Amino acid sequence: MTDEPFNNIKACVFDAYGTLFDVHAPVGRLASKIGESADSVSNVWRLKQLQYSWLRSLMGAHADFWQVTGEALDYTLDFHGIHDKGLRKELMDLYMELDAYDDARTALTALKAAGFTTAILSNGSPKMLNGAVTSADLASVLDEVISIEDVGIYKPDARVYQLAVDRTGVAAPSDICFVSANPWDAQAGAHFGFAVVRINRFGLPDDNIPGQPDLLLDTLNALPALVGAG
Ligand code: LAC
Repeated sequence: MTDEPFNNIKACVFDAYGTLFDVHAPVGRLASKIGESADSVSNVWRLKQLQYSWLRSLMGAHADFWQVTGEALDYTLDFHGIHDKGLRKELMDLYMELDAYDDARTALTALKAAGFTTAILSNGSPKMLNGAVTSADLASVLDEVISIEDVGIYKPDARVYQLAVDRTGVAAPSDICFVSANPWDAQAGAHFGFAVVRINRFGLPDDNIPGQPDLLLDTLNALPALVGAG
């Protein structure tokens, strides 16, 4: 038995950063070096990375997510008065090989074994996504790794979500269970027409934008059973 929006799912499509991969791992690894501003550095870095992606999309001035991530880090280090080129390089190197959350492999393995199409749909550049998927050893449980570089604009543009429909070959957005731990991404995916699970990794409320995820789960552990794979 599955819940109504999830009872005819053909493909499970995952956001990458924050959902499968831990964006706070790089600063976490170097926290003792960064000192008491470490949590703030990680949070500002992430917020600026997203903000720059949206600003560039609105400006019609696209640059790939690796460049945006580096420019966001430069702002963040400057904002915190940290001037350390070696630290910048270490953080960027770690971002290329992010840790996966523990529940990511288990859920993807169960979904794939049950015959669901599995995919990543991410702002990440192909090189970044390849780095993270390879270092987390997830390639064998993913059918598609889809980068927004194919349309040259960032989420939440509808052309990005349409990519997932086109690349998984499903008949309609509602055949896709879209999974994101980023509230705005989960909400935009719901607004587009996906069946959506938001993973509540960060204890955040919904954003005040259109779109309402169908379900909030604490982790990915219950996802396979939800769509009938467990
Ligand atoms: C991504 C960001 C939004 O992976 O987390 O697309």
